[in-house]
Amino acid sequence: MSTESIDNTRGTKTRFEPTEIAPEMFVIHDHHGEGEAPVSVALNSMVIRSTEPVVIDTGMAENRDRFLADVFSLVEPEDVRWLYISHDDVDHTGNLNALMEACPNATAVINWFMVERMGASLAVPPTRWRWIGDGESFSVGDRRLHAVRPPIFDSPTTRGLYDPNTGVYWSSDAFATPMLSPVRDVAELDDDFWRDGMATFDRYVSPWLDLVDEAKFQRTIDRIERLSPSTIVGCHTPAIHGSRVLAALASTRRTLSATVPPQPDQTVLDEIQRALTAAAA
Ligand SMILES: [Fe+2]
Ligand SMILES: [Fe+2]
Repeated sequence: MSTESIDNTRGTKTRFEPTEIAPEMFVIHDHHGEGEAPVSVALNSMVIRSTEPVVIDTGMAENRDRFLADVFSLVEPEDVRWLYISHDDVDHTGNLNALMEACPNATAVINWFMVERMGASLAVPPTRWRWIGDGESFSVGDRRLHAVRPPIFDSPTTRGLYDPNTGVYWSSDAFATPMLSPVRDVAELDDDFWRDGMATFDRYVSPWLDLVDEAKFQRTIDRIERLSPSTIVGCHTPAIHGSRVLAALASTRRTLSATVPPQPDQTVLDEIQRALTAAAA
């Protein structure tokens, strides 16, 4: 699992090879923001080498070549049997069509509302769909995977995915955090930075938190806690292992009362535009 750097058009981008976070379970890494913004944000997806191999989410379209190369370094295209899409945002569906085209034996695990929301951007025919909703499960040969909605989400179609064989929970957009530089594990982040980062992302991802009943929200976290995940892996977080799983759950429990920085507004954009104009002059 080596680390290398590659040059992109905007500078040097850290490159992580896939990380085996549990037996036969791999995180496919990407991120954005490095060298352009004060923080980086992970854009992960996953591969499970179950007897019927599974890919979970597909990253951004601009990372297509790397994404496909990473996935196919772990599993042959014709062996991929399932593509589980957690929800219909572009950072999760960017290579959905490309992966399904490359993997003739794969079924896309989606749901009815994703089909409605994606419209013609979903190029996969209905004969290659399977609809799985929150609370349902499906067999991938040697195990059943369980669709469980995370407490934080930004699309009504969202379902995480829990593997009882390994205890790994794919949390989609939940338990997300920025990173000062790309890392593989939240253990590499400063604890205060991590907790503040999670609170900020929770509030940005789910502004509806202002509207929710506290007790009902806590029950959505109880539901994840009852799974006793050994590891949480999400699209926008380094891997969360061991005792830090409970820390992540505890942090999310406090999100309703968290005070977080405001999102960048037009004054920030004015500064960016002035800098770009000056650089071009
Ligand atoms: Fe999302
Ligand atoms: Fe996302």
